[in-house]
Amino acid sequence: MAKEVILTGLRSNAEFHLGNYLGGILPMVLLQKKHAGQYQLNMFIPDLHSFTTPIDHGTLYEQTHQNLKVFVAAGLDIDQPDTFIYRQSYIPAHSELTWILDCFSSFGEVSRMTEFKDKSQTVGAERISIGLFNYPVLMAADILLYGAKWVPVGEDQRQHVEFSRNLAARINNQFRDIFVLPADNAEQLKFTEREKPVRIRSLRNPQKKMSKSIDDPAGTIMLSDKPQDAAKKAMEATTDSEANIRFDFDRQPGISNLLQILALLTGKSQSQVNADWENKTSYGELKQAVAEIVQSFLADLQAKLTAIDDKKLMQKLEADEATMCKVADATLLKVQKAVGLRPA
Ligand code: TRP
Repeated sequence: MAKEVILTGLRSNAEFHLGNYLGGILPMVLLQKKHAGQYQLNMFIPDLHSFTTPIDHGTLYEQTHQNLKVFVAAGLDIDQPDTFIYRQSYIPAHSELTWILDCFSSFGEVSRMTEFKDKSQTVGAERISIGLFNYPVLMAADILLYGAKWVPVGEDQRQHVEFSRNLAARINNQFRDIFVLPADNAEQLKFTEREKPVRIRSLRNPQKKMSKSIDDPAGTIMLSDKPQDAAKKAMEATTDSEANIRFDFDRQPGISNLLQILALLTGKSQSQVNADWENKTSYGELKQAVAEIVQSFLADLQAKLTAIDDKKLMQKLEADEATMCKVADATLLKVQKAVGLRPA
C-alpha cells in the first residue's frame, strides 16, 4: 500500500532569524527524522504564496534558494528517499487546480478566514490583493493535488487546513470520490511535536515575538549575523530586576526567553535547563552561557551553509519536481474529467 502523505510548506520569502529557526525550521527537520520511512513527506516551497502581500521581487528567487539551504544546513536530509522537495511554481497544476477550486468555494466562507482579516488590516485597503483573499484556495490545491492526509501546521494555519478538508468533501460529494480527505484538526495534532509551539521572544522586548522588524535589530538574531555580534546581542538582552532566575514567562519573560533558547540550542529538555539554573542569582552568567551557545551555533550553521553542494540540491529539486508534476497532473486530470473539461 502506498504510504500516507505528510505535506508541509517551507516558508521562503523572508530572511530567517533565530525564532524562525527554533520555532519553524527545527520542527520540520525533526518531523522528517521521526516519520520518514513510514510516511511520504512532501516538503514544498510555497513560492506562489510569497507575494500575496507586497515583497521585494528582486530578491525572491535568491531568497527562496537561500532559505531552502538553511533547512538543509539545519539537518533536512535531501537523500532520504521518501522526502520530496519541490517549488510550487514549477508545478503548473497548483495554479490550474486553484482556479477550478475557486469556483467551488464560496465568497462567504473564504471571507471568514481570520488570517485574511488580520493580514488585510496590515496593508492599505488598495493593497489587499485578490491573491491574499485566494490564499487558502491555493493552499487547498497544494494539499489536495498530492492526496495528503496529514498537514502539520501552526495554530494560525489550522483554519486553512479545515477549509481544504471541507472543500474536498464538498467536491467528493458532488462528483465521486476524487480527493483524499485531509484528517480533521483534532487528528492532525498527532503530528505536532510540541503541545505549545515555541515562540522565541525579542531579546529587547521580551513581551513580543522575535521578528525581522527593522525597529528591533538588537532584539533579533538573524541567522546571517556574525557570531560575535549575535553573542553581543545575547549579552545585552533585557531582563528584570528580580535578581532570581525563574522560568516564568508571565513574571520574567526576558529570563525565561534566555532559558528557552538555552534549552533548544543545547538540545537539553527545558526542565533540565531550568533545574540547572533556577534560583541562581547571576543574570550575567546566564547571559554568558546563552551568548556562547548562540555564537557556536551560528558559526556551525554558517559553516554548514557554505559547505552545501548547490548543484546537488538543484538536481534534487528538479528530479522531485518532475516526479511530483506527474502526481499532480494525474489528480488534476481526474478533476478536469469530473467537471467536464475533459472527456470522461
Ligand atoms: N500557509 C502556510 C504558512 O504560512 C504555508 C503553506 C502554503 C502551506 N501552502 C501550504 C502549509 C500547504 C501547509 C500546506 O506557513
